[in-house]
Amino acid sequence: MASTIRVRATSSGETTEVQALIQHPMDSGFVKDAKGEIIPPHFIQQLTFEYDGKNGVRRPTGAAAFPGPLRQVRLQGRQEGRRAEGQLGRQQGRDRHHHGEDPMKLRSAIHLASAALALARADVCQRAAAGARRHDRSRRRRQGVQKFFTDKFPKVKLEDFVNGPYSMNEDLHRQWQEKEQFPPYEFSLEMGKEMFSKPFKNGKSYEDCFPNKGIGIRQNYPYFDEKEGKVITLELAFEPLPRGQWRSRRSPMCRDEMAALTAYMAFTSRGKPMDIKIPNDPRALAAYENGKEYFYTRRGQLNFSCATCHVQSPGERIRAEMLAPALGIVNAMPIYRSEWSGMGTTSRRFTTCNSQIRGVPLSPQDDEYRNVEYYLSYVSNGLPISGPGARP
Ligand code: HEC
Repeated sequence: MASTIRVRATSSGETTEVQALIQHPMDSGFVKDAKGEIIPPHFIQQLTFEYDGKNGVRRPTGAAAFPGPLRQVRLQGRQEGRRAEGQLGRQQGRDRHHHGEDPMKLRSAIHLASAALALARADVCQRAAAGARRHDRSRRRRQGVQKFFTDKFPKVKLEDFVNGPYSMNEDLHRQWQEKEQFPPYEFSLEMGKEMFSKPFKNGKSYEDCFPNKGIGIRQNYPYFDEKEGKVITLELAFEPLPRGQWRSRRSPMCRDEMAALTAYMAFTSRGKPMDIKIPNDPRALAAYENGKEYFYTRRGQLNFSCATCHVQSPGERIRAEMLAPALGIVNAMPIYRSEWSGMGTTSRRFTTCNSQIRGVPLSPQDDEYRNVEYYLSYVSNGLPISGPGARP
């Protein structure tokens, strides 16, 4: 992996805040690869921020201490029209490389939320005319869920719920808009884009595994596969994965590579309304009902259900985190979290949530997790895809 640094500086009065987004391996030397061999140490030891050749701020780092790709410092003084320079200190191992800005137009991706919503409504109307009666029941339930949240949070626009905790609080919302200027998931997106078109040994690539080469289709996942008789989530759609490229021991569904692939697919679908179908197959409706039941069932030592946190308490804080509303909760996946120092897939998030209530998480992509994702996605139909997300 080549190293890349991107630097952004914003001045306010006497101080200049410098943010550096750094991509670099952080191998501690204690981790083994898939073959059981130690991955040699290779990490950033020190970061130096300099302003006008002086005032160097040194930040010692270490493989364990490095808190993720985004670093910030405040420097005294400013000079109009100059860009601050970020300098990478010594690294162990390979040479250092610097690359220029990638042409990928991240910042041009504006949420086309209102247009998307109008489309979504038209779509819902058509489907209602054609749908069978029992599907009307789940449609009514979806509208019920959406009404519950818009009544509970009258100030929040329907399409804004997809921004999770940021939709709940104006200060956080501002922070989120700032983050979107310099998103910490950028490297993950680039990695996903590259992985997506890179050919496997047989000459095919991930592009060939999806309709429309995987572009702009994230809103259709998960779907109920009538042949297999089960819910296929976006993460599961990547199975079977070529194992060679996956380094860590985490389940493939929770790894950075999976986050990168799904981040890229979400990014190409931003603004498109979630569009989950329940086909006229009793097994599909059963999967939806099972997901709903899982969502509302209490479990774990704390005896919480998913709904305890994400329906009863969104906007409230649990330790330092503000709880996201269940409506639109999957539209922003995968997400970058500072606490994780990296990206998390939907599988990683679900298992983490179960551990938080001192429950035993299911294995990633277990039937019930897929069904709960199906349920949560269906009730968010019409709300725009906003992933990949970044959380505090
Ligand atoms: C103890 C409270 C708690 C319970 C119970 C809980 N979660 Fe969470 N969940 C959190 C916290 C805290 C976060 C991170 C902050 C946030 O984004 O809400 C989170 C985040 C999420 C996210 C990412 C949302 C985002 O925008 O960041 C999803 C998806 C999610 N939870 C799904 C679930 C599911 C499914 C269940 C049930 C299996 C569940 N949660 C149970 C506390 C909980």
